[in-house]
Amino acid sequence: MDKLTRLEAYLRERKEAVDQALERFLPGADRFPEQIFKSVRYSVFAGGKRVRPIMCIAAAEAVCGRSEHALPAACAIEMIHSYSLIHDDLPAMDNDDYRRGRLTNHKVFGEAMAILAGDALLTEAFRLMAQEPPEVDPGIRLAVIRDIAEAAGIFGMVGGQAADILYEGKAADADIVRFIHNCKTGAMIRAAVRAGAMISGAGESDMCALTEYGAKAGLAFQIADDILNVEGEAVLMGKSTGSDNERRKTTYPALFGIDESRRTAVKLVEGALRAIDSFDERAEALRLIAKFIIERRS
Ligand code: IPE
Ligand code: IPE
Ligand code: MG
Ligand code: MG
Repeated sequence: MDKLTRLEAYLRERKEAVDQALERFLPGADRFPEQIFKSVRYSVFAGGKRVRPIMCIAAAEAVCGRSEHALPAACAIEMIHSYSLIHDDLPAMDNDDYRRGRLTNHKVFGEAMAILAGDALLTEAFRLMAQEPPEVDPGIRLAVIRDIAEAAGIFGMVGGQAADILYEGKAADADIVRFIHNCKTGAMIRAAVRAGAMISGAGESDMCALTEYGAKAGLAFQIADDILNVEGEAVLMGKSTGSDNERRKTTYPALFGIDESRRTAVKLVEGALRAIDSFDERAEALRLIAKFIIERRS
């Protein structure tokens, strides 16, 4: 199998495992009040790429962990990510109409249900990690919860989203855009990789290498998202393009142009790969995913 086919097969298999686990961990849509359960499932099962949970599992595999032990944290991270997208699309934030190839949550269920669906996903994510997997030492689970809370909260994604909004239409420099991207996107990708490794009992030097891998790959992921917002195909991506420019967002292409942004993303991926070059072939999926991050078209 060539590299692309190997990666496609890997992503397909892991995505299936994540989707099945999410189905197991999330409540059905037949509960009362139905609208909120439907709203949660509408966004989670809208066909996201599942990059973060797959990276969490791939990190577990890279340090010889059991992928099923990484699944609850992987799913929790996807729940947090889905919540962040629902809120990101709200009129008060990016005001977007399409996400994951469908109308955004608030367009279908209204703003109140969209806000509550996000709240529900964030809360359920932490309940899930507090409970599962029972085989993993509670001390390790607690450390993972703490790490993910930091990445999702005011020192991570929420802080980054705040800066993203506050800097709309404002002059920003390289430090600001790096801060925004590291926080709003990098932190959760880094946490996903760390969670998979922590649950698998990784040692200090592996944790260090994987943290660097996750941080670099995470920043590259958001730069690639910026580039796709300029030159990607909306149909493939399932969301609008050109919106960053319209909202005068602080992005890499806006500050440095497309070519320079692409060079930066490539360098970051090279750095991510270097960080894990002492790992054996069990880190192959992490290597393929790092390259996929900047080559993807959706
Ligand atoms: C979109 O993330 C938002 C960013 C942080 C760039 P993804 O590109 O992972 O979106 P889905 O989950 O596949 O929809
Ligand atoms: C999303 O960033 C980051 C989140 C934490 C949700 P963007 O606003 O740039 O992502 P898209 O382009 O809407 O997916
Ligand atoms: Mg946004
Ligand atoms: Mg957005």
